[in-house]
Amino acid sequence: MSAGPVQSTKVLVLGANGQVARHTTPVLLKAGAELTLFLRRANRLANPDPTRVQIVEGDVLDAMAPRVAMQGQDVVYANLAGDMARQARSIVDAMHETGLKRLTFVSSMGIYCEVPGEKYRSALDPYRDAAAIIEASDLDYTILRPGWFNLEASASYRLTQKGEPFIGHDVTLDGLSALITVLATTPGSHVRESLAVSHV
Ligand SMILES: NC(=O)c1ccc[n+]([C@@H]2O[C@H](COP(=O)([O-])OP(=O)(O)OC[C@H]3O[C@@H](n4cnc5c(N)ncnc54)[C@H](OP(=O)(O)O)[C@@H]3O)[C@@H](O)[C@H]2O)c1
Repeated sequence: MSAGPVQSTKVLVLGANGQVARHTTPVLLKAGAELTLFLRRANRLANPDPTRVQIVEGDVLDAMAPRVAMQGQDVVYANLAGDMARQARSIVDAMHETGLKRLTFVSSMGIYCEVPGEKYRSALDPYRDAAAIIEASDLDYTILRPGWFNLEASASYRLTQKGEPFIGHDVTLDGLSALITVLATTPGSHVRESLAVSHV
């Protein structure tokens, strides 16, 4: 007996014009996802596939726009920069209100002083605060703490958990996009984990 058509995952991409988000969009599409690309000044982004992609203009810090964009979604992938703690608060509140559970949130390596030989930089304070807000929520989150991005054509990556030293230095954008796609489309994958991501 046929199991019927496989439902595609509906992914809300917050900060869709960011470097990693733009790199990840085609990978998510290749994996069969339906996308809502949420960004400020939406006219900067061309729609790569109007049959499966909608583009929504909005600011994550806005009271209404994220809530409206979250209606009908399965998962949220946040690819932001700037006032990360306020952004995390806004996302967590909006997800609670709309009943969404699954969040992948891109942070940075170094927020726990976990990179051997590197000093903690206060520029990372907002990233660490954002991670704390997400960890204190009851969401099914995965926080990613990637190394420095590089353009090497390799989709492999290495993961280490919170509390472990960071291994290596870089991560490929291909690897990061592959990981984000696995997290978005595989229920239960690395739920409530904070993962450092580096190149193998
Ligand atoms: N570069 C590296 O090697 C590296 C390494 C580790 C971690 N990271 C971190 O990884 C994250 C993702 O990297 P990335 O290169 O993709 O960053 P990015 O290109 O700077 O993208 C971040 C996006 O966030 C959006 N944004 C900021 N505030 C927003 C708001 N209030 N509402 C909606 N969108 C908002 C920006 O939108 P606008 O375009 O409208 O400004 C921008 O498109 C960043 O936080 C970065 O610092 C980077």
